Amino acid sequence: MKTSHHRKVLGIETSCDETGVSLIYASEQDSSVTIAKELIHSQISLHAEYGGVVPELAAREHLKNLPLLTDTVLSQEGLRAEEIDLIAVTVGPGLKGCLLNGMLFASGLAASHDIPLYGVNHIEAHVLSVFIENPHLDFPFLTLVVSGGHTELHLVTAVGEYTLLARTIDDAAGEAFDKSAKLLGLAYPGGPALSKHADSFSELPSFSGSSRFTLPRVMLKQPGFSFSGLKTAISLLISSETTDDTAIDNALLTELAWTIQESIVELLVRKVRKAVQETRCKTLVVCGGVSANRRLREALSSEKLLSCHFPATRHCVDNGTMIALTAHLRRNAGLPPAPFEAMPRWPIETHKLEERV
Ligand code: KG4
Ligand code: ZN
Repeated sequence: MKTSHHRKVLGIETSCDETGVSLIYASEQDSSVTIAKELIHSQISLHAEYGGVVPELAAREHLKNLPLLTDTVLSQEGLRAEEIDLIAVTVGPGLKGCLLNGMLFASGLAASHDIPLYGVNHIEAHVLSVFIENPHLDFPFLTLVVSGGHTELHLVTAVGEYTLLARTIDDAAGEAFDKSAKLLGLAYPGGPALSKHADSFSELPSFSGSSRFTLPRVMLKQPGFSFSGLKTAISLLISSETTDDTAIDNALLTELAWTIQESIVELLVRKVRKAVQETRCKTLVVCGGVSANRRLREALSSEKLLSCHFPATRHCVDNGTMIALTAHLRRNAGLPPAPFEAMPRWPIETHKLEERV
């Protein structure tokens, strides 16, 4: 469909519980891309009964889904596999078995049609996902990565240039949402459900801008993020307000959810303020699953002097488009692919200023 000035890049994402396959047409002249077809197969229903992702089940499911999703993407686009110019695949960080199965599939497809392969860092892909909708965004910018496994702040000066400003020393923001949701009796993954309940509290006609409950403001003086103190406080608050025998009623549930969401959001906003003070950079990109949170978006967007950018909601969660785009942007910047080995832990920073924020 697109001209010969466009690279056809297939992006494959399997680092956790979403199988993402996407085909993009990437301009050879600049960073702009057109999404030809993107598919995400979520495994939420498979893992829900266990209350969290079961790594072996997730890995097996990816292997089952990948050929189906890839065939669908190619056939709906009227393309043969050998017409793909580049295959991009997540090689870390993530669950090892899941990464390996994605890499196995990608390398088999690449080898059988003689297509180059490009290994991608999943967190770098979340950071760069903002370029899907904003191809002309200027560097430098701050980025807040908030997902189920990561919470970190970086100053991004170019593709491949990341200065770490703050990272969580314990749980990630997504985990704080999910674990609190579990304590409230909400099904896995609880983040979006908790957020919905919180929003319905603030939409009540009687809402006054606060709740009856308070949670301690932890970790604002020390560098980095920490959610474990908050988690303990949340758990104490929930047990002081509920009993084992009676189901938590809707009014209490929404008020607790609102209080919890406010404290997680406030912690994130305050650290962003510190990062702005420290770097004097006034552009912020928020990415990762928690960047879909409506309240977080609203709070950051209302920060004075800060220009905020968020990926489209479907690109906040794990997806193949961000993987394809990252390979394209790195190739345009003359950067090499990652070594082709699964890397469950793989920080993106090239520099550190970590103790200051
Ligand atoms: O980036 P992601 O899709 O997967 C990882 O790489 O971890 O992030 C998933 C996380 C989960 O913890 C999920 O509960 C959280 O993002 N999340 C949310 C919302 N949507 C997803 N948390 C709060 N509010 C939301 N609307
Ligand atoms: Zn992710």
